[in-house]
Amino acid sequence: MKLTNMALGLFAAATVFMVGCSATQSMSEESLGLRNTSLYSEADAMPVKTEYSKKAAGESKLIARAFENAPPMIPHTVDGMLPITINNNACTGCHVPGVAESMNATAIPKSHFTNFRPDTSLAKNGMITKEGKMVANTSDFKVIGKPTSKLSGTRFNCSQCHAPQSMSEAPKNEFEVDFRADSHVKKSNLIDNINEGVDTLK
Ligand code: HEC
Ligand code: HEC
Repeated sequence: MKLTNMALGLFAAATVFMVGCSATQSMSEESLGLRNTSLYSEADAMPVKTEYSKKAAGESKLIARAFENAPPMIPHTVDGMLPITINNNACTGCHVPGVAESMNATAIPKSHFTNFRPDTSLAKNGMITKEGKMVANTSDFKVIGKPTSKLSGTRFNCSQCHAPQSMSEAPKNEFEVDFRADSHVKKSNLIDNINEGVDTLK
């Protein structure tokens, strides 16, 4: 094909495209954003009111988990429980295994009683040692998981990952969860498949 013919062809295609576009239905500006009000004024643009659950622990209904092994969200009120401090962690009072069952609360899982941080030190020759093994490249080190008798310090601040949810009308989440087994709907099992998909270097 000669260059001029090709240019003509492209021009024709562009024209067809433009004609096609002009036939498309127009959208009102109000419908473009999630807030459904004028885009040129903030007067009526009120954010949805935050409404946390007022139900006491023991009286709330669990919130569906967002995905497999997602941290479950807090369905009950946390009034008087926050902030979590070193001397005051109300959450563990009800959720620690052994107590949780009798409270009808989900027990803190094994992953929270696991230390994932390898003992790391610097050898005299400047090499990094992880769990007593010298490693040339720190990313060569496989994840470790050492069970701990106490709650791991990294899990102390529950509300860093578990949060109350506002019950008010918010834009709908269209995401559909695909749990690999029914048992994951209400229970996590992260500790069992923590190394899933990890290809360790030999
Ligand atoms: C007085 C006991 C009590 C205290 C204190 C408490 N919880 Fe709960 N929690 C429960 C119970 C019982 C449930 C089950 C839902 C219900 O019955 O309200 C629950 C449910 C949950 C869930 C949902 C579990 C799931 O399987 O979906 C999470 C997450 C949670 N609580 C986190 C916390 C955090 C974080 C704190 C501290 C800020 C806390 N809870 C304090 C008793 C308690
Ligand atoms: C660093 C983030 C993080 C922190 C901090 C944390 N959690 Fe979790 N939690 C998770 C994740 C992720 C899961 C789901 C995967 C798993 O089992 O580890 C989970 C799961 C849970 C579950 C559900 C267990 C089950 O069998 O389904 C409970 C209950 C829970 N956590 C309570 C707590 C409490 C209470 C604290 C504070 C003492 C806490 N968590 C601190 C991330 C966290």
